[in-house]
Amino acid sequence: MYFASSISILALVAPALVSAAPMRHMRRQASAADLLVLKFAGVLEQLESQFYSQALLQFQEVDFTIAGFSDAQVAIEQFSTIVIDETTHSTIIEEEIIDLGSSSISGCSFDFSSVLTDVTIMAATARVVENVGVAAYLGAAHLLDDASLLTAAATILTVEARHQTILNILSGSGTAIPNAFDLALSPSEVLAIAGPFISGCDVGVAANPTLTVTNTGSITPGTSLMFSSHAIPSDTSKLSCQMLTGDMSFSVSLPYSQCVVPSGINGPVAIYVTNDTQPLLANVVERATVNVVAGPTMAFIDTQPQTLGQLAHSGSSSSGSNTSSVSSASTTVSSAAASASSSTDTASIAAAPTSSTSTTTISPAQASSLISSASAQNAVATPGVGGAAAAVVQDSTPGGQNSYSGPSPDGHTNVNGFTN
Ligand SMILES: *[C@@H]1O[C@H](CO)[C@@H](O)[C@H](O)[C@H]1NC(C)=O
Ligand SMILES: *[C@@H]1O[C@H](CO)[C@@H](O)[C@H](O)[C@H]1NC(C)=O
Repeated sequence: MYFASSISILALVAPALVSAAPMRHMRRQASAADLLVLKFAGVLEQLESQFYSQALLQFQEVDFTIAGFSDAQVAIEQFSTIVIDETTHSTIIEEEIIDLGSSSISGCSFDFSSVLTDVTIMAATARVVENVGVAAYLGAAHLLDDASLLTAAATILTVEARHQTILNILSGSGTAIPNAFDLALSPSEVLAIAGPFISGCDVGVAANPTLTVTNTGSITPGTSLMFSSHAIPSDTSKLSCQMLTGDMSFSVSLPYSQCVVPSGINGPVAIYVTNDTQPLLANVVERATVNVVAGPTMAFIDTQPQTLGQLAHSGSSSSGSNTSSVSSASTTVSSAAASASSSTDTASIAAAPTSSTSTTTISPAQASSLISSASAQNAVATPGVGGAAAAVVQDSTPGGQNSYSGPSPDGHTNVNGFTN
């Protein structure tokens, strides 16, 4: 049966009926590439489904309240919807692979213990997971040979993008729809981020080395990023850090030792380390991979909080101290690792510090182990007050730019392969 028709059947009736459905369409045999992509997508959907299932088992209503939501149900309703979607995706992809005469990848274990420590970190990780999910479907689209599979995959992709927007809102600090374009990542790039959560199975794709941002404290325009990766050599003098957002046609390329987050960025940023200075192209089909030493890793640089997110994410912490302004637009919590990484930020996480029911406080030491154990770190961004942070950014690349504004840093309309 066709993948897409299976989806609609599944949405209406019990999954068991899908395999019993009598209609079979003529279709050509799946190519090796089609099966590879389907199986890879299947593992990612298993990962997403497992992530939300474990999260919803782990956390109670009170944990969501402590995390600062105006009403726990605001978040729980959305997470409960998302887990159904992901489980449905996972089931339908598995059915499709079987229907094509193969079998899905089994034996994968997913360990999220490092990021299921509290709701704030879980929600920030969910945001990374969904963004990587969107990037993965986009980045694998061109690999599919069967047009019907491409269309079917696209029907999933758009739903993942909705999840992404909801999680941007639930973060409290994010822009619901931060960019006009989304990032596409190749399967190897996806695994650099998702791989550390997966064990026990061979997904059939080589992973790029995982890259970890080791900064403690807020990451904002002007912050100088530091990294760790087993793949980074001791001599870093020839290395560059590269930052790519969906709205850029090519990355901002900076010397590794002067990797300063540029002004003008808002939303998800893929960060790479390369062994040359050549900017990476946004277009995943054309992007050179040979010079990528490690990464990408995914960070959210939230510089434009919106009222919708602030509404969802408690306009006021009614109890406890205000030592950190949990709800104001100027101090926002958006991330797993980074938000947990300084005592100041810890105060933001503990939105209801008077509660004794949950340990939401994380020491810097725990935070750095979190950062290294999961690659799902991203950033707390404190919007530059009056653009002050932007002043920190200096052009330090020979012939390069490290200030980004608008969709075309080079002045041309050339985004993601659309050239004008
Ligand atoms: C680094 O650069 C060299 C030569 O420019 C290249 O051959 C090599 O594959 C590059 N990539 C990595 C990941 O080291
Ligand atoms: C917290 O902030 C609110 C509103 O600004 C204020 O009324 C309250 O007194 C503050 N509480 C503490 C403990 O500072």
